[in-house]
Amino acid sequence: MTEVKVVADLDQIAKTAAEYIIEQVRKTDNRFSIALSGGSTPKSLFQVLAKPAYRDRIDWSKVHVFWGDERCVPPDDPDSNYHMTRETLLDHIPLLPDQIHRIRGEADPADAAAEYEKLLKTFFATNEPRFDVILLGMGDDGHTASLTPNTPALNETERWVVPTYYEAKQNWRVTFTAPVINAAANVVFLVSGSGKAERLRQVLLGPYQPHQLPSQLVKPTNGNLIWLVDQAAAAQWQHN
Ligand code: 6PG
Repeated sequence: MTEVKVVADLDQIAKTAAEYIIEQVRKTDNRFSIALSGGSTPKSLFQVLAKPAYRDRIDWSKVHVFWGDERCVPPDDPDSNYHMTRETLLDHIPLLPDQIHRIRGEADPADAAAEYEKLLKTFFATNEPRFDVILLGMGDDGHTASLTPNTPALNETERWVVPTYYEAKQNWRVTFTAPVINAAANVVFLVSGSGKAERLRQVLLGPYQPHQLPSQLVKPTNGNLIWLVDQAAAAQWQHN
């Protein structure tokens, strides 16, 4: 099932996503696995989730936190997705260290990717990395996680996690591949702002060209896809 949900603004994206996560954790009997993303949009969600009014409605003992991608920098670097999550969310919730599974951005990118793939295989103990929820952002160029335009990572069908060089930012990243994202039970894109509007229209309504628009690769095989977008981001297609 694919759903596009348009809400007023970034604040509403964050609150709607927080309620969604609360509900998904509640519905899950045993452990709940979630992969987070970097970027400014999830940051707002993390800040909301860290507030007592939201935080206290989650049984955190069930929750296991992962990342869909990481920049290849040390974990205390301001560019690190782990660092951003720690400051906005992890420092404010009762998770034990063995519930937090970060990508080692400080390591060699190929080693970090291989290590993380191994960690996922151990965690899921099957050939299917079935996350309960994967959160994604969409970059201005149509990338998601660190699946960036015209890179070999987009063709990957076997590996779960790969190193990849992001030309636009001139840095190495480690990222989930499309097969991992598409094996999830629920995938939620968070997209905010007028700067994303035209790209979002192309991704949702334009021709299928995943090498230019990697977000189009996201099509869960046996799961739900939700696009949670604000009115500014929806402007290009909502009124046309
Ligand atoms: C990253 C990401 C990336 C991000 C998008 C959207 O580490 O950069 O995981 O895929 O989610 O670029 O970012 P914004 O929300 O900042 O636009």
